[in-house]
Amino acid sequence: MGDLGFKKVSVLEGGYNAWLAAQYPIEKKWTIKQECVTCHTNVTPNIVGDWKLSKHSKAEVSCSVCHGEHHMSEEDVDKSLPMKPDRCIMCHQVRGDQFKKGKHALAWSSMKAMPTAHWQPMAMIDGMKGCGGCHKVGIKADAEIKEMRENGAGFGYASCDVCHTRHTFSVKEARQPQACQTCHMGFDHPQWEMYSSSKHGVRYLLKQNGTLPETTAAPTCQTCHMREGNHEVRTAWGFYGVRLPLPEDKKQAEARKTYLKALGMLDPEGKPTARMNVAKKEDFFRMTQKEWSEERVKMLKACNSCHTLSFARRELEKGDQTVRETERLLAEAIQIVANLYRDGILKKPKNYNYAFPDFLTLHDAPTTIDHKLWLMFMEHRMRAFMGTFHANPDYAFWYGWSRMQQSLVEIREMAEDLRKKAGK
Ligand code: HEC
Ligand code: HEC
Ligand code: HEC
Ligand code: HEC
Ligand code: HEC
Ligand code: HEC
Ligand code: HEC
Ligand code: HEC
Repeated sequence: MGDLGFKKVSVLEGGYNAWLAAQYPIEKKWTIKQECVTCHTNVTPNIVGDWKLSKHSKAEVSCSVCHGEHHMSEEDVDKSLPMKPDRCIMCHQVRGDQFKKGKHALAWSSMKAMPTAHWQPMAMIDGMKGCGGCHKVGIKADAEIKEMRENGAGFGYASCDVCHTRHTFSVKEARQPQACQTCHMGFDHPQWEMYSSSKHGVRYLLKQNGTLPETTAAPTCQTCHMREGNHEVRTAWGFYGVRLPLPEDKKQAEARKTYLKALGMLDPEGKPTARMNVAKKEDFFRMTQKEWSEERVKMLKACNSCHTLSFARRELEKGDQTVRETERLLAEAIQIVANLYRDGILKKPKNYNYAFPDFLTLHDAPTTIDHKLWLMFMEHRMRAFMGTFHANPDYAFWYGWSRMQQSLVEIREMAEDLRKKAGK
């Protein structure tokens, strides 16, 4: 984004004046088009209203600074520039660099990497109504944005505004746990539901509504996941609740291999596949003990601002234990379905790489028993280990562990029926 001639100086590192001094002396300073504000006061009054509330308006970061100055009338609206994170980053480099190293930056590409992403309706992906509506936090390539704009997908390119909502771009808003709520909720990652009904969340919400004083100790999502405002988000176990290297315990190692096969990262013989390379590129999970431990240490430091280190360590170890125990249950169920493929009772679908269940086909899996298995992975296991980490007993046990056990029984029974029908 060199086109506006900005110097890459962090406003907040050097202070506003240092930043301003770095910007203004250069010949190619931006123009602040007063006309934008004048006309838009009628066209979109609440956008102007929010912008007026922002620190940006006070610092003369005007409409044209972000949107460019090529559109100036009703007839040339399509000339306004798409807002990309780079445009924010040219002034906020420190946060931008952190963001780019973290998992949020990868959200768009990891969504696109799902084998059946292109099967979903356009409105759900590029239209931002489904997957895209949350994964838009990820950075998109220029070519992608161009294509999306040509196809009429009108917004969602800015990434940074998911927590700093346009046009107030407030830091106060981004510090609230609700800033994460729109995405970290629901079916496969109900972190909002778990947090807001945990001791931690309830206490924080009581602070927000004024029942408890401002200085009461209560963590937000940000306290644990963005310590010191660090925009590089990542956790030890990640979304999939898996990591490498394989554990030393033989049984556990077998279970993990079975799970990685169902993720398509290992082939049925146990050799890494092309998808394992995608997993590396997209940072799906921690590939070494070192990477995992680094994240764990960060988390322990976060807990340690309120709890003792030994308390925190014990609590997190219970999470690790749940990851392992649920992995074994899941592996048992995967093996039952895998044996149906092996024995020819279920036929390998054309789009599958192997005669083996494939979790990443999501709801486009071919049979009812595959769906049951997928739910056990994507809904029930997620709740069990995520609930343990987020101090929510009900999610951990009833929505999680208990539902996994029920699923296992159903899968076993369905497999027996299928075998009977096939006479094998
Ligand atoms: C003479 C009035 C006028 C002026 C001046 C004007 N705009 Fe607009 N702008 C509009 C209208 C009208 C729309 C379309 C509204 C609609 O679709 O309902 C629009 C739409 C936009 C959009 C949305 C673009 C999109 O892709 O949907 C942005 C962003 C925008 N203006 C920014 C600016 C900026 C920045 C300036 C100054 C450089 C500016 N406008 C100057 C009238 C104006
Ligand atoms: C700090 C950068 C920044 C400034 C300053 C800014 N905008 Fe925006 N604007 C954005 C972002 C980010 C979006 C969302 C773009 C997306 O989703 O792809 C947006 C979207 C818009 C849209 C289209 C979305 C809608 O809800 O219709 C309009 C219109 C718009 N801005 C007008 C303005 C006007 C008028 C001003 C000045 C009063 C202004 N903007 C100032 C960053 C900015
Ligand atoms: C031209 C430089 C520039 C651009 C581009 C820019 N900002 Fe800013 N931003 C500033 C300045 C200057 C401040 C005010 C700093 C101060 O007052 O301490 C600021 C303040 C902020 C704050 C703190 C607000 C608060 O409530 O304290 C946030 C958050 C922020 N910007 C986010 C963004 C985002 C997101 C974008 C892109 C959509 C963006 N900025 C684009 C210069 C810029
Ligand atoms: C617009 C949607 C959206 C918002 C808002 C959002 N996130 Fe995310 N978050 C995502 C997506 C999508 C991913 C998965 C990224 C990927 O594909 O790699 C993610 C990943 C993460 C991860 C990494 C988990 C892992 O696998 O290790 C953490 C931690 C996280 N977010 C925390 C937060 C916090 C804290 C907030 C609020 C301050 C927040 N997020 C706000 C969509 C969002
Ligand atoms: C409600 C918002 C939302 C929707 C809708 C959504 N996701 Fe996600 N997705 C997230 C969040 C948040 C995460 C991170 C959760 C976590 O780490 O616990 C995530 C994680 C992922 C991951 C794992 C990435 C990683 O690196 O760990 C993939 C892949 C993914 N989503 C793809 C999709 C696809 C494909 C769709 C649509 C079929 C979709 N998502 C729909 C919010 C959403
Ligand atoms: C997942 C939510 C989230 C996203 C996405 C996000 N921010 Fe932030 N941002 C925060 C939080 C939380 C803070 C408050 C940090 C603190 O405690 O001081 C913050 C603070 C800021 C500040 C205020 C000053 C400072 O440095 O603390 C700026 C500027 C900022 N972010 C810029 C950006 C930019 C630029 C992007 C995109 C590259 C971005 N943010 C994306 C959550 C987010
Ligand atoms: C008290 C600290 C704490 C709070 C508050 C908290 N988390 Fe977490 N979160 C954790 C821990 C611990 C893990 C597991 C880390 C690991 O893998 O070792 C985790 C994991 C995650 C993950 C990865 C998948 C998972 O659930 O295991 C995401 C995404 C996430 N949290 C988002 C959020 C969001 C969003 C909020 C607020 C609604 C939130 N967290 C509140 C501590 C917290
Ligand atoms: C900002 C302060 C703060 C941080 C950070 C924090 N906690 Fe807490 N935690 C509390 C408070 C306050 C309570 C309530 C004390 C009570 O239940 O008696 C609590 C309670 C708990 C409980 C008991 C929950 C219950 O239902 O009674 C567990 C377990 C826990 N925390 C684990 C953690 C872990 C693990 C971390 C780090 C990932 C963490 N906490 C980070 C403040 C914090």
